[in-house]
Formats: sequence, C-alpha cells, structure tokens
Amino acid sequence: MLQTLQETVSWLRPQIPAETKIGIILGTGLGDLASSITDKKEISYEKIPHFPVSTVEGHSGKLIVGKLGGKPILAMQGRFHYYEGYDMKQVTYPVRVMQFLGFEYLFVSNAAGGMNASFRIGDIMLIEDHINFFPEHPLRGKNLPEFGVRFPDMSETYNRKLRNLATSIAEKNNIKLQYGTYVGLQGPTFETPAEYNFFRIMGGDAVGMSTVPEVIVAHHGGLKVLAFSIITDLGVLGKIVEVSHEEVQEAAKIAQPKMAFIMEEIIKQL
Ligand code: HPA
Repeated sequence: MLQTLQETVSWLRPQIPAETKIGIILGTGLGDLASSITDKKEISYEKIPHFPVSTVEGHSGKLIVGKLGGKPILAMQGRFHYYEGYDMKQVTYPVRVMQFLGFEYLFVSNAAGGMNASFRIGDIMLIEDHINFFPEHPLRGKNLPEFGVRFPDMSETYNRKLRNLATSIAEKNNIKLQYGTYVGLQGPTFETPAEYNFFRIMGGDAVGMSTVPEVIVAHHGGLKVLAFSIITDLGVLGKIVEVSHEEVQEAAKIAQPKMAFIMEEIIKQL
C-alpha cells in the first residue's frame, strides 16, 4: 500500500504546485464548482497510476489542479462510492494521496436526504458530526504509523474553526445554513420510510452514500475537514415521495452556487 501510494504521489507531484494544501471532493451534481476554478489543468483518473476509475453517472472522474479564491487547490470531480463495488481502501485512496502530498485541508460535498423535519429541499447542511453505518471500516486492517494512530480520536472530526468560519460567512451573506449529523450508508437503494425514521431516531439529520469513509481517512491522516450536504430529497414521515438519481442531481444543482460561494470565501481566508 505504501509503495503504491508513493508511486501515485511521485507521478502527481510534478503536476501539482508544491504550495497546494487544499483538497476538495465535489459530490453528486456539485461538479459545477469546477467552473469557478481558474488556472485549470485536468488529469483524468485513468492516467494516474493506481487510481481507481469512477463509473457512476454524473461523475466524470478527473482531478482538477488550479486556483479557487486565489489559493492553489486540487479538486476531485467524481468520487469512488462503496456501492459501485470499490473496497474501502479504493474509496479512500485519493485522500491518502492528498495526505502524502502534504495537504492540510479537505473540503467535501455531497447530496443527501434530509430527515430533520425543519429541512427543505435545496437547503445546505453543514455537517457537524457523522454516524458511520457503512458495513466496512476504512481503517480496518494493519495500521501503518505513516497514516496515523491505530485508534483515532473522533471527538472533533469536522474542524470547529472551519465550521465557525462557514457560519460567519453564511450569516454575513444572508445564506441560510442548516446544521446536523450525517448518516453514511452503503446504498445504492434510497431508504424505505421505516429506515429514514430509524436513522432519524438514531440521531441523524441527513443520510447519504458517501463522505464518511473519506472523512475518516482524512481525519486519521491529520487533515482538517469541512463538509456540506445539499438536501436533495426528504426522508421526513409524511413528506416522503419517490426519488430518483436525476432529481437528486437537479436539486443539488440549484443549491450549489451558494455552497460554492461559502467554500470559496473560506478558502480566501485560510
Ligand atoms: N438517501 C441516501 N442517499 C441520498 C439521498 C437519500 O435520501 N439523497 C441523496 N443521496
């Protein structure tokens, strides 16, 4: 694993400015943030040694090297979902690559179902915490000290300073933010009404099929994490309607400029 990672990193190193400290994972329907990135260079996943290749619709599968808010960043357009059949080491491989490139920050976005009754479709939820409901843990197996400690603390997985910064930027610009706990599940089915209700009772505000594995690995590797969910459908009893991947993408598209704005403003202030 270490040798493979080093090969990927040595291949990427000359193509990424050494001052780059910020990684971004663009979720379902949120890829348009890419249009705000300047001085762009794209590297498709197929070209990168040992990188998995993404398959799902709506994810084009490339790294974007460039600038956002005047700072050098590396964005992933297209992530690897567990439901596609990748194992957890593959799902989180790009995050290890970011760690080994010396990054300090990881920004993540996703589309999620809202279970909190005060949420509306199109809301942006700042993830304050998560519940890991994936059937496999990304840190299972031998722990390499180069990666992080064997038993990572998770008391502040989503960096408080970054969250406070997001809140003040949203308030100053009249952008409504919701706050809550994201439940990460394997999918690919959306939830039954009974399941939404169960995850709500369990303490979740939103539910989705990504983010948790990447965030765990980023946190393990010492990166400061900030993550947002776009609420694309509601798993609230009485409001549950049929949902499709296309509708999720559409709802995410509408909310994404606001989320992109917040991210860009935060990056300016780092
Ligand atoms: N459930 C799981 N994943 C999702 C949902 C949902 O309701 N919406 C978008 N991704």
